[in-house]
Amino acid sequence: MIEAVATFSLALLSVVLIWMIYLRRAHPEPHLDWGRQDLDSIKFPENFHWGVATAAHQVEGGLRNNWTAFEESKDMELSGDACDHWRLWEQDFQMLSDLGLNTYRFSIEWSRLEPEEGAWEEGPLKEYSKMVDDLISRGIRPMVTLHHFSHPHWWEDKGGFSNAENIPDFVRYCDRVHAALSDRVKVWCTINEPVVFSSMGYALGQFPPGKRSITQTVLVMKNMMVAHSKVYNLLKSKDKDSSIGFAKNVTLFDPTNRWSPLDWAASRLLDWIWNGAWQRAIQKGRMFGSNIDGAKSSLDFIGLNYYTHFVTGLFVPTATSELDFQKRDNEVETDFGYPMYAEGFRRAIEYASAFGVPIEVTENGVADASDSLRPEHLKRHLWILSEAIKDGYDVRSFHYWSLMDNFEWAEGYSMRFGLYEVNYEDQSRSLRQSGEIYRDLIKAQLKR
Ligand code: BGC
Repeated sequence: MIEAVATFSLALLSVVLIWMIYLRRAHPEPHLDWGRQDLDSIKFPENFHWGVATAAHQVEGGLRNNWTAFEESKDMELSGDACDHWRLWEQDFQMLSDLGLNTYRFSIEWSRLEPEEGAWEEGPLKEYSKMVDDLISRGIRPMVTLHHFSHPHWWEDKGGFSNAENIPDFVRYCDRVHAALSDRVKVWCTINEPVVFSSMGYALGQFPPGKRSITQTVLVMKNMMVAHSKVYNLLKSKDKDSSIGFAKNVTLFDPTNRWSPLDWAASRLLDWIWNGAWQRAIQKGRMFGSNIDGAKSSLDFIGLNYYTHFVTGLFVPTATSELDFQKRDNEVETDFGYPMYAEGFRRAIEYASAFGVPIEVTENGVADASDSLRPEHLKRHLWILSEAIKDGYDVRSFHYWSLMDNFEWAEGYSMRFGLYEVNYEDQSRSLRQSGEIYRDLIKAQLKR
């Protein structure tokens, strides 16, 4: 008997050990000695697109939508005038030109176009159309996001993405915007970071509607996939030349202790949900056990938003716990609290390439009010990107997050992500040193 127990324990131990060795090899967590890398030796293809990204609710100001209702109900910092960009966009677009950019990612605010259900306003769509013309006249490619975390309050009241019956409203809105702009806009992001939207809004309760339910989270994720594929297939049928994707937040989940089977289990599970679900939907047309009609291959490019890795212990964000950031000893903390981990950008690119379509980096940046970290952050990430392209990864663009400081959702105005610093008292903008670095680097790359 004792012998049998001992043999069984030994066998179990060997299996766990082999599993651990496999995981450690299959999912390495490299850390470079940055002092040894020549960050100036970067080389990008001539036709590479250089840009920045913003989102309507974070910059425009003067909105009434699901977010403003949430801000008021939670007594949090109000988005209010934001960067007053709705009024100042022409001046802000001059900043794009000053940086020498040739692509700009921005989002359309549905609540401006349809403030009440079925009551469409033509004025705002004309204004967006003017923006598009202005961008094109500057030689800047417009990339339009149709849903970046915000939508009309009436749609939220109906349950938003948590009710599949609401999806036709969203498709109708997208169709309308596409009809108005697709003669000039050729690159479209249907939805920004669906997994962030669903987990922050329905599991962690930090985004509207502030719920904490795992079943609702999964439902919202599925419905967002349904919405994406419906929009993809409809817009594609109307204009074959539209290139359509979504922006995927790729967070890497690394076990706190790389010899702990429990930490591995937690990190692989989170990765399976966070990064795996949308990949499986595109590759196999299935998400969490359900077939999603038309989802398979509903993608012309994958938008990659990369910020950090999540050092994962037994702690798993659940309906009752808050997010908690850990960092490795050698890592620098950003203002947001999570670490700068540029090495992970390469892993995120490798992950994105498995979608089988070209990659557009739709966001990468850092919250750094003093601008002391941003120059190094920018250089490291661009170096990683340049190396990845040299190694054959098909990455077509880089959009820095963000053009200017703006309303950072649940964090309000405390987080400053801009290449331009914004003085919210008088709405003046001033270029940070990191902005100068980005500008000069683009100039050098385009001149080659
Ligand atoms: C979002 C942006 C946000 C940025 C910085 C991304 O998850 O798409 O809206 O401002 O991260 O936190």
